[in-house]
Amino acid sequence: MQFPTSFEIAGHQLSPPLILSPMAGVTDSSFRRIAKKCGHIGLIVTEFISVEGLTRGNLRTHEMMRFTPEERPIAIQIFGYDEVRMRWAAEIAEEAGADFIDINCGCPAKKVTNGGGGSSLLRDLPQLKKILLEVKRAISIPMTVKIRAGWDDKSINCIEVAKLIEDCGGAMVTLHGRTRVQGYKGFANWDLVRAIKENVSIPVSGSGDILNPQDAMRRFSETGCNAVHIGRAAIANPWIFRQTWETMNGLEPYQPTPKEMYLLYYEYLGYLREAMPERGVIGRLKMLSAQFLRGVANATHLRTSALRAQSVEEMLPFVDEYFALAEQFGVDLKLQTARDESAEMMTCGV
Ligand SMILES: Cc1cc2nc3c(=O)[nH]c(=O)nc-3n(C[C@H](O)[C@H](O)[C@H](O)COP(=O)(O)O)c2cc1C
Repeated sequence: MQFPTSFEIAGHQLSPPLILSPMAGVTDSSFRRIAKKCGHIGLIVTEFISVEGLTRGNLRTHEMMRFTPEERPIAIQIFGYDEVRMRWAAEIAEEAGADFIDINCGCPAKKVTNGGGGSSLLRDLPQLKKILLEVKRAISIPMTVKIRAGWDDKSINCIEVAKLIEDCGGAMVTLHGRTRVQGYKGFANWDLVRAIKENVSIPVSGSGDILNPQDAMRRFSETGCNAVHIGRAAIANPWIFRQTWETMNGLEPYQPTPKEMYLLYYEYLGYLREAMPERGVIGRLKMLSAQFLRGVANATHLRTSALRAQSVEEMLPFVDEYFALAEQFGVDLKLQTARDESAEMMTCGV
């Protein structure tokens, strides 16, 4: 099978067709920089950013929009309900230098859907239409949209929504093939990605449960999608994009050395410390550690101890010991990217 080598968003050629999925509490600039360094990401999407925060001048929200040049091409993802605030926020994001604006129509969290945003928009297509037309009219960069399958399994409407997105000038649609009610349980339905692909002519990306290069290749060939998003697996293994690209091209996938993993871990810590106070750093470091410190035989107790630590200083000796064992015994990346059933807990209040 010939796999796509690139994809196009409104005339912008992006390669490879592998996208770092937006993840609130994860894909901040610090994480995006280390992921990008591992190679072969065609497009990065920021964690979602509240239009309420952006348009009311919340400094922390504005801070979330910051990115460094090496993160390009980058889509800034926004969420909200009110079409005027959505438009205004999209203008702010364009001004901040985004290459694309991504509209979130997938977030299942109550604090988002209660305000009418995220996956709630899948139940309010007139409002979604208003938002898309307002945003499209206001910005000169392409608008993309990320959706879920539907609200629940009785109201799966992603094909209708994808057509609406195309009609309103959306330049790409991404489907995470779970319903809102499903949350992160079960599996993403990739048949719906294929169905959308057959019904619209804008590019389609699929999202959900890609854990290794073989999963990505299978999804490309089963659905004909233009690109795939990779989320959780990239936390455990940010080299997954490079490995996928190489496997798609018949090459042996790159295996990072334990030393490289160690250096990447500390580079991430350095970026975090530049970006936030120490009490924020520990939360983010634990988020990474829970996924990244896996795959070394007999080292689970070190990960557990690191995750129980009260401060970064207290954590690091466990981390160092983990990487010393990794040097000695090696890291099994397959083990590292085993499907994590605790995604629900990982969603950091999203
Ligand atoms: C911790 C976490 C945060 C997420 N935050 C966002 C978000 O801000 N915007 C969004 O569109 N999707 C978000 N998602 C959904 C992911 O982008 C992705 O669609 C989903 O996790 C399925 O893909 P995966 O199996 O590759 O992780 C989040 C998922 C996780 C696990």
